[in-house]
Amino acid sequence: MRKKIVHLVDDEIVIHDIFKRIFQEPEYELRISENKAQAKSNHSSDVDVVIMDQMIPGSSGLEIFKELKKDDPQVRVIFLTAFGTIEAAIEAIRQGALDYLQKPFNNVELRHRVERVVKERRLNQENTQLKRALDDRFGFENIIGRSPLLKKVLGIVESVADSNSTVLITGESGTGKELIAKAIHSHSNRRAMPFSPFNSSNIPANLFESLLFGYKKGAYTGAVADKKGIFEEADGGTIFFDEIANLSDETQSKILRVLQEKEIQPLGGSQIKKVDVRVLAATNIDLMARVKGGEFREDLYYRLNIINIHLPPLRERKEDIPLLAEAFLKRFARENGKAIKGMGAKFLRQLMDYNWPGNIRELQNAMLRAVLLSNSETLEPESLAPEILGLRAPRPDDGGFNERVDAYKRQLIVETLERTNWVQKKAAEELQLKPSTLYELIKRLRIGK
Ligand SMILES: Nc1ncnc2c1ncn2[C@@H]1O[C@H](COP(=O)(O)OP(=O)(O)OP(=O)(O)O)[C@@H](O)[C@H]1O
Ligand SMILES: [Mg+2]
Repeated sequence: MRKKIVHLVDDEIVIHDIFKRIFQEPEYELRISENKAQAKSNHSSDVDVVIMDQMIPGSSGLEIFKELKKDDPQVRVIFLTAFGTIEAAIEAIRQGALDYLQKPFNNVELRHRVERVVKERRLNQENTQLKRALDDRFGFENIIGRSPLLKKVLGIVESVADSNSTVLITGESGTGKELIAKAIHSHSNRRAMPFSPFNSSNIPANLFESLLFGYKKGAYTGAVADKKGIFEEADGGTIFFDEIANLSDETQSKILRVLQEKEIQPLGGSQIKKVDVRVLAATNIDLMARVKGGEFREDLYYRLNIINIHLPPLRERKEDIPLLAEAFLKRFARENGKAIKGMGAKFLRQLMDYNWPGNIRELQNAMLRAVLLSNSETLEPESLAPEILGLRAPRPDDGGFNERVDAYKRQLIVETLERTNWVQKKAAEELQLKPSTLYELIKRLRIGK
């Protein structure tokens, strides 16, 4: 437990002694100042409460209070006033002091007031810390990128978060649809309530409805107790329907009904329950094409697609690649205890040249792999998978003739090693080289795994 810091500003020795007795336990730290200069040097922002006498030689309590407040706007002060002279104390309270106490004061009363102020302050601090932790977890801090396309997405997120509107999040696989769904939830006024993802693609069709709407005991064999469905559990919060295109026609119409009526009926029950959930949905396929093909209900499509947020593929916002790569590099190096400082220019060039069909998730995986495979302080292209390197023609920035030939050899060898699971003997066979020659090349070209 942190010490409670009490700062007494008073010039009377008698009062010093009284304070030393009242706050003698080790849970307290008592600071004593006799004048303005001492008060200023003894004050710090971790002081829990300042007890300030009104009459201080050379200045006044109120003046010192104002001085302290300049540096520490949060300063908390209780004034000590002489009997019959409370006007100045009242003035102080007007100016933001917490409380005042008349001299001579009752020791128990003083201690009680101090305790109350400390408790309040600690509670406030905890709240701000909690709030900050929440903001960190759910803010945009975890969404990396500065491209205008991403900024536009975040702008929409901010403007729709607080509404209850359904949002359809579209974009290729790995573009960050789930991340954006969470950001919408955490910027909405439902943020303290559950965020419940529901991914229909890995759930057997016959379980959909009981998962969504719940069931009553005895609704079917095995239903030994009432069970709440996701709609009920997420009440007050947000449901995120991932891979929405996979829903069966029947489930689609039931969900549409919930969206329209805002009520559910658990399986095997007759009772209808009101639910208040916000629905977000995501898909990486062209849902409109499914609608035209008769595989997705048009009414549900329009109900979901009130607001559309489209996440552009990474290849259309290449300026985000270095930022993302750097962030992933730092994270994976830390998590795996690797002393890697950064990316070499050629490494970064490869990342920029590639077209990232698997988008940010693929980049994330590539960076993990590179961090794990690398033995040097700087990431070099050898640590990238062959599909990212591509067997491209060596370029001028590889160096002169010998360097360009080496670059080519390195890629050829890494690619073959990948294909043969890094079994050198097999790779040598495939390349029609003696195993010892391959071994020498691997060493010379610093190919690492
Ligand atoms: N802008 C970003 N900044 C940081 N990390 C991101 C960003 N976009 C996506 N990611 C990360 O990339 C990974 C893939 O993102 P996410 O799961 O949200 O994509 P998705 O579009 O839902 O993919 P899928 O369609 O495959 O389900 C996650 O680990 C996510 O945290
Ligand atoms: Mg997803």
